[in-house]
Amino acid sequence: MATPNNVLERALSTRRPPHATEDAEEDGCGDDDVSKTRKHISIVTKVTNYLTRSGYVWPIIIIGLVIVIISSVIIHSQDLVCISVSYSDHISRLRFFGFDGHESDFGSLGVPWCRSKHGKTVEWTSKDLLKGLEEFVPIYETRPIKNNMYGMGFDHSFGLWFITRWLKPDLMIESGAFKGHSTWVLRQAMPDTPIVSITPRHPEKYLKKGPAYVDGNCTYFAGKDFVDFGSMDWGRVMRKYGMKDLSGVLVFFDDHQNELKRLKQALKAGFKHLVFEDNYDTGTGDHYSFRQICDQFYIRGGGHSCFKDSDEARIRYRRKKFWEKAVDVEELCGPGEAWWGARGQMRDNFNHSNKAITYAEHFKNSRFVESVLDVYWELPPVAGPSLTHQTRYDPARAPTPIIEDGRYGLFRRLGLSQFEISVFNGYTQMVYLQVSEQEN
Ligand SMILES: C[S@@+](CC[C@H](N)C(=O)[O-])C[C@H]1O[C@@H](n2cnc3c(N)ncnc32)[C@H](O)[C@@H]1O
Repeated sequence: MATPNNVLERALSTRRPPHATEDAEEDGCGDDDVSKTRKHISIVTKVTNYLTRSGYVWPIIIIGLVIVIISSVIIHSQDLVCISVSYSDHISRLRFFGFDGHESDFGSLGVPWCRSKHGKTVEWTSKDLLKGLEEFVPIYETRPIKNNMYGMGFDHSFGLWFITRWLKPDLMIESGAFKGHSTWVLRQAMPDTPIVSITPRHPEKYLKKGPAYVDGNCTYFAGKDFVDFGSMDWGRVMRKYGMKDLSGVLVFFDDHQNELKRLKQALKAGFKHLVFEDNYDTGTGDHYSFRQICDQFYIRGGGHSCFKDSDEARIRYRRKKFWEKAVDVEELCGPGEAWWGARGQMRDNFNHSNKAITYAEHFKNSRFVESVLDVYWELPPVAGPSLTHQTRYDPARAPTPIIEDGRYGLFRRLGLSQFEISVFNGYTQMVYLQVSEQEN
C-alpha cells in the first residue's frame, strides 16, 4: 500500500520538465523567450568559435556553464512574473509547495474514489471539458446572481452545466435551490426541458432583497408546498411529466443531506443519473458524502493514520497552514482514532443531526455504494491554484485540474482571468453517479 508520504514524495520526484514550447506560447511570454534564446545561441556560437581557434578549451567549458546557469535563472524568474506578482501570500503558498507555475502536487495525499461495478467511466474526455469551458465562460458572464455566496461558484456551475448538456435529460430535478443559481445553470444547459425544484424557501422570496432566479418552466415544491425528496410521490410526478423511462431524468442534489440517504431514496424512485454538489472530503463538511464513504484503505489515498507523529500528520499539519479546507489529524480524527466520515460521524442535514458509526458500518456503506454504481466521476477543479488563486481546497486531495498550473495563456484565452477570485473558492469535488440497472 502506498503511504501518503511516499505518494507525496513520488509526486514530487516525478515532476515533469517545464513545457517550454507549448506553455510559453500560451502564456504570452513565448515569443520573447524564443528570440532571447536565439540571441543567446548566436553569441555562444561566436565566442566558442573564437576560443576554439585560440586553443582555450577550459575557458570555453567554464563560460558555457556560466551562460547556461544565468539563462536558466532568467527564464525561471520570467515564468513567475508572468503568473503573478501581486499575491504575495499566494506566491509564498506556491513556493512552499515547490510550484514553479508548471507543476503541482495534485493528488499527492490521495484522491478517494468509489469503484464502479464494472470499471465503467464517463464518455467525455479532458478535451471535451476544455471545449465545454470555452463555451461556458461567456454563459457564466451573464449569470443573474453575480455574488452567489453559500451557493455554487464557477467550478461546480461549469460541472453541472457540462454534465447536463452531455446527458441531455428529458426532465431535471434539483433539491436545494437557494436563490436559484443552480436552476439558472440547468436552464442554460437545456433551454426547453422542464425542471422540478425542491427547496424550503421559494427563490422568489430572495428577489425582494436582491438578484435571484425564478424559472418559468419549473415546478417548485417550495414554501408551503415543500416536500422533502425522500417523501415525494415520484410515481405521480413522473406521470405528470409523462416520464416512463427514468433514465431520462437527471437529479441534482445541493441540499446538504446525508448522501447515502439520498442515494437510497433515488434508488427507490428508480433514478439513474445523480449529481451531488458538495462531495466533502473526509474530515470536513456537514453531511456524509460519497468521498467520505469511499475513503477506504484499498483505494488510492484511502485510510488515514491518526498517529500524531506519522508522516500523514506532519504533511497535513504543514498543508493546513496554506489551504483553508485542509485538516490536520487532530481535526480529522475523532474519539478512538475514528477518521472515517467526519471524526467518525455520519452527518446529516447541515450537521443538525449526526451519528457516530463504527469502521465496520462505514466499510459496509462503501461496499453498498460500489455495488450499485456504474460510474463515479468527480469533476476536476477547472484550473490550478497558481491560476485561480483559490485558497480553500488542498490540491493534495484533488484530481488534476482541467487547466494545469503554468498554462496561464490558456486560462486567459478562455476568459477565466476576468472573474473574481472568490468564484473559484467553492470547489468541493462535485460528483456524477450513474446507478447501475437494479435487479428488481
Ligand atoms: C447550498 S444551498 C443551495 C445552493 C444552490 N444550489 C446554488 O447553486 O446557489 C442549500 C439549499 O438547500 C436548501 N435545503 C435545506 N434543506 C433541504 C431539503 N431537505 N431539501 C431540499 N433543499 C433543502 C436550503 O434551504 C438551501 O436553499
